[in-house]
Amino acid sequence: MKNKIQANNTEIAYRDRGEGKAIIFLHAFPLSQIMWDDQIDQLSTSHRVITFDWRGFGDSRLGDGIASLDLFADDLAALMDGLSIQKATICGLSMGGYAALAFFRRHGHRIEKLILADTRATTDTEEGRRGRFETAEAVRLHGVEVIIETMLPRLVGETSLKNRHDVCDKVRSMIKSADPETVAQALIAMAGRSDSSELLAEIKIPTLIIVGSEDKLTPPVEAEFIRQGIPNSQMCIINGAGHLPNMESPADFNLAIANFLK
Ligand code: MLT
Repeated sequence: MKNKIQANNTEIAYRDRGEGKAIIFLHAFPLSQIMWDDQIDQLSTSHRVITFDWRGFGDSRLGDGIASLDLFADDLAALMDGLSIQKATICGLSMGGYAALAFFRRHGHRIEKLILADTRATTDTEEGRRGRFETAEAVRLHGVEVIIETMLPRLVGETSLKNRHDVCDKVRSMIKSADPETVAQALIAMAGRSDSSELLAEIKIPTLIIVGSEDKLTPPVEAEFIRQGIPNSQMCIINGAGHLPNMESPADFNLAIANFLK
């Protein structure tokens, strides 16, 4: 069941299950907290697990809009305040990883341990940035339908495209239900995100980097770049998974997290 809370001038939908040390999951673009179903189900037997929808996504309100990924970071801090969580393990995947790095920059003292999955520390190329603006315009004009079939094979790995129709359907339906204006604003916010390459050396807390071996959007080479940059980090490659290893290979993904949190 989802709950709602007022945070940072908007309404955030979240789930809060289990007891013990808190771990908070930050979802990818253009998805919702539903992508973390397997994590909240399995990891909440040993931890307090929180998942939530970024503003405008899932069941959260867009409020005043997504000015930047820093706003996501501040929303997360406000959510933690509302749930009386001073410090937590933060796990961000892809856009969730960009937001986790923004959170480190702005509220780093509130991170116990960090998990960066299928993400990158660098900014977009000029071409990538242009592509985001074009996609934002297309989505505003024609709706999210225009991105579903191009995004799906980039989000889900080759193996899962063939064998995990359940995962493909779930991803498709998350994209389909996304709000076009939110999607457009998130694209523009991602295009404007800061480069975090220099920040990596400042991350001194235990950090786990996870990546699917078949990830085309943020391939293992990006994960390796992050691993080399963060002194106290370890890396786990999930074989046979793409950009969403938490959905494609949940048992391996959860095991990597459980081992890291021990
Ligand atoms: C995501 O999975 O969150 C996005 O693909 C990230 C991006 O577009 O850079």
